[in-house]
Amino acid sequence: MFDLIEKAAADLASAKNVVALTGAGISVESGIPPFRGKGGIWEKIDPMEYAHIDSFLQDPEKVWRVLIKGMKDVIDQARPNAAHLGLARLEALGILKTVITQNVDGLHQDAGNTDVIEFHGNFAWQKCMDCSRRYATRSVDMSRLPPRCRCGGILRPECVFFGEPIPTHHLYRSQDAAEHCDVMLVIGTSAWVQPAASIPLISKQSGARVIEINPEPTPLTHHISDYLIKGPAGEVTHRIMEKLAKLR
Ligand code: APR
Repeated sequence: MFDLIEKAAADLASAKNVVALTGAGISVESGIPPFRGKGGIWEKIDPMEYAHIDSFLQDPEKVWRVLIKGMKDVIDQARPNAAHLGLARLEALGILKTVITQNVDGLHQDAGNTDVIEFHGNFAWQKCMDCSRRYATRSVDMSRLPPRCRCGGILRPECVFFGEPIPTHHLYRSQDAAEHCDVMLVIGTSAWVQPAASIPLISKQSGARVIEINPEPTPLTHHISDYLIKGPAGEVTHRIMEKLAKLR
């Protein structure tokens, strides 16, 4: 792993336009469980029964009680870890331009990144399904579920449920960023869920170097990514940033 840390630091030091694609794994060291794999949320509850728009429309009380309320408690406690802080540092150094995240936890912005494409939306806001009035999640009273708007409408998180399209502007901006980067960092995603999982392929086909950071191999490994640094995102990113500091 150590020579790959050196290699990644060298690749970043010579890069002009780095883009990062992140998934749930980058927030595991911040106390937010992943969706898949060991300790994954979907090991306990069926995503098609609790995270699909049809199931939400059918029984919003159930989805709020079993999934959304719990997400709020976990996200409220979470703070950026060394991986989030490393990406913010790369932006401050002028190396990294954009973060494309599948996460709804807002930790990249909390760490200091300014150009974050929230591919699957954000959990910080709830929206009324009748009048579209928005409420900051932290201000929503969760004592009665599903929470309601002052118009009486039911509130829903501004996240993308399964069965819903990715907002077009996020899709176009992500594809554009992927086409124009010279290095893509792919951190903490199982690369199963489309269309996010195809973003590294766009970069690869545009000639970029694709670097994966993940304790486990993914469908990208040995096919699309140039190399995988096997380890937890926080620990690995911290080491890369240490090496990079010596190279600049
Ligand atoms: N550091 C880096 N990666 C990690 C860590 C860690 N500390 N711990 C786990 N991982 C890796 C796992 O090996 C796995 O490959 O993170 C990945 C998490 O995969 P998923 O849980 O599938 O998360 P993600 O790829 O973001 O899921 C995509 O699916 O459920 C939907 O909308 C949800 O955005 C989500 C999408």
